[in-house]
Amino acid sequence: MRAATASDLDAIDAIERATFPTDAWSRELIAAELAGAHTHYLVAVDDAGAVIGYAGLLAPRGSGQGDIQTIAVAEPARRQGIGAALLDALLAEARARAAFEVFLEVRADNPGAEALYASRGFERIAVRPRYYQPDGVDAVVMKAVLS
Ligand SMILES: CC(C)(COP(=O)(O)OP(=O)(O)OC[C@H]1O[C@@H](n2cnc3c(N)ncnc32)[C@H](O)[C@@H]1OP(=O)(O)O)[C@@H](O)C(=O)NCCC(=O)NCCS
Repeated sequence: MRAATASDLDAIDAIERATFPTDAWSRELIAAELAGAHTHYLVAVDDAGAVIGYAGLLAPRGSGQGDIQTIAVAEPARRQGIGAALLDALLAEARARAAFEVFLEVRADNPGAEALYASRGFERIAVRPRYYQPDGVDAVVMKAVLS
């Protein structure tokens, strides 16, 4: 795992498009996220150095809060602990930025991701009906209080 750079844009974009076929972020949005002043993006790489996952945090210093912006692991590399390792690293960064609570949204039809978040202390705090478009799927809003 290492910090993401602008040179990872192609690899992240490819995983994004394969992972979120109906609501992938645009390449421009991903580039802006990677360059953001208050974001922290990581990539997971395989033994050959190829990007096999990524995750991002938004946590302006002084706000006391953070948001898990995204997390994705390439399909063949799932269930090997990579997603959990990325999330743990983002939560460590949130703590380093003095955030005491971290939020995220997850599709209501994505119990696997919700299970990952629950395993790291996130709890459901709200549902946002039909948040994900064009699919019309609810968002589950989750929050973790950092110790
Ligand atoms: C969600 C995602 C990032 C998890 O990454 P991963 O590397 O496969 O996750 P891990 O191997 O670290 O899993 C850690 C734990 O999370 C839970 N979990 C992860 N995927 C799960 C699934 N499909 N079903 C049930 N539980 C799951 C399990 O508790 C798992 O521990 P275990 O394998 O010991 O049972 C990955 O499945 C993914 O990229 N999915 C598509 C994109 C996505 O949904 N992103 C989240 C958007 S909010």
